[in-house]
Amino acid sequence: HNSKKVIAIDGPAGAGKGTLARRLATQFAFAHLDTGLLYRGVGMKLIVAGLDATDVVAASAAARSLQLQDLDHPGLRSDEAAVAASKVATIAAVRQALLQFQRDFATRPPNGAAGAVLDGRDIGTVVCPWAPIKLFVTAAVEIRAARRVRELRQRGLQAIEERVLRDMQDRDARDSDRLASPLQPAADAFVIDTGTLDPDAVFDAAIMQIASNGGFGL
Ligand code: CDP
Ligand code: CDP
Repeated sequence: HNSKKVIAIDGPAGAGKGTLARRLATQFAFAHLDTGLLYRGVGMKLIVAGLDATDVVAASAAARSLQLQDLDHPGLRSDEAAVAASKVATIAAVRQALLQFQRDFATRPPNGAAGAVLDGRDIGTVVCPWAPIKLFVTAAVEIRAARRVRELRQRGLQAIEERVLRDMQDRDARDSDRLASPLQPAADAFVIDTGTLDPDAVFDAAIMQIASNGGFGL
């Protein structure tokens, strides 16, 4: 029933997934799940425990025991958490442990919402391959890194441009080259290059695509 009302958004770091997902969720009154938070939550559990993010046994256990309150950790938005997230995200058992939660969110969105928007790396390919709307947002890595630098500085944090760019390139490579659910557009995804588009223009492109697919009857 509800499972038809799902918008899958994938793409690399800083492409504008979250920005677009929030706007679409508001537009359609859908629930929104930032699936990166789940991987960040697992990565943060390992950091807090003083364990390495490449520890397969510990990471798998952390993913299986992940609680919603783990997603409230204040450090989750840090680049340290992002790096740990992208390491645990290469482990197939970690991905498997997080799969059901994501699918339940998509098929039975919380608070009685009529549908769901999920953003991540493998929503259109693995988590919700049946989603009627799949968007893949991307942009040149230099542009994505510059956005990240601006964001960090706006939050009053220090950012060394070369370092942010290098971290993003490393994370792109880990996400794209891994065997378990690598980052790639689904065959039927609509690709939006956000490099020269502001959030309003990206939103308009997405709305046009959704409308041309018949909308959601809304
Ligand atoms: O979720 P993801 O990492 O893909 O990106 P985001 O958090 O939505 O956006 C990363 C940064 O890029 C934010 O500071 C956005 O305001 C900015 N952005 C932009 O400049 N142009 C866009 N079309 C989308 C996002
Ligand atoms: O916000 P940003 O795009 O920088 O990262 P994120 O969406 O919070 O994701 C952090 C890391 O989690 C990514 O680099 C991926 O390695 C991993 N991830 C994933 O593998 N699959 C997802 N569906 C979401 C995130």
